[in-house]
Amino acid sequence: MTISKTTHRPPIIAPSMLKCDFGDLRGELARLDAAGSNWAHWDVMDGHFVPNLSYGALLIQSVRPLTKAFFDAHLMISDPAKYLDDYIKAGCDAITFHIEAVPAPTELLKRIRAAGRQAGLAINPGTPADKIEPFLADCDLVLVMSVEPGFGGQKFMPQVLDKARTIRAKMPKEALLSIDGGIAAPTIGSAAAAGCQVFVAGSAIFDEQDYGAAMTHLIQSANAG
Ligand code: DX5
Ligand code: ZN
Repeated sequence: MTISKTTHRPPIIAPSMLKCDFGDLRGELARLDAAGSNWAHWDVMDGHFVPNLSYGALLIQSVRPLTKAFFDAHLMISDPAKYLDDYIKAGCDAITFHIEAVPAPTELLKRIRAAGRQAGLAINPGTPADKIEPFLADCDLVLVMSVEPGFGGQKFMPQVLDKARTIRAKMPKEALLSIDGGIAAPTIGSAAAAGCQVFVAGSAIFDEQDYGAAMTHLIQSANAG
């Protein structure tokens, strides 16, 4: 079995598709490809775990053939175990769910890996690091939320950086630490300095005219951090 894995080297920018033009997904994915992006971050919301609804596995599956980008699914849903197979079938390369939704996540992380995909755990701003520490060995990806999940365009919460640092120190070396929410040129450097390697960015890319220039600016700011 082929294991989905990214060979991309940090800093990795993962455009958050929550902020793209849903009326022109094909065009947006083509513009990201042209901008040199090789990840797409899919924010899945169920209107229950978070107070917003976005899109689900069928949409991801329908755009999967349009790009070679690494598909990074972020499931903000209450029952990820129930829907996991749909996201595997949709062609997601990494599947991340929340520790607040699944406090004993070992089995689900193992199911994701058994399907040849990368397994990720996400943690909300108010949840302490010790809730996920026992499960870090089973993670390929850990995602620290730097806003309350549910909406793009919120303000970065610097108070999560200490937690990011703590988690990075305890994660397996080859696993990636991701940060999500309010990432932009003024904030990305501090996140990189705290050990983050994947930077989810919605507004900082999709609110700009030139996605390539926006991504270059983010990478330079991460490297300067
Ligand atoms: C929030 C999502 C984020 C968000 C990022 O629940 O997980 O991925 O869309 O958007 P910005 O970069 O605008 O904070
Ligand atoms: Zn996200």
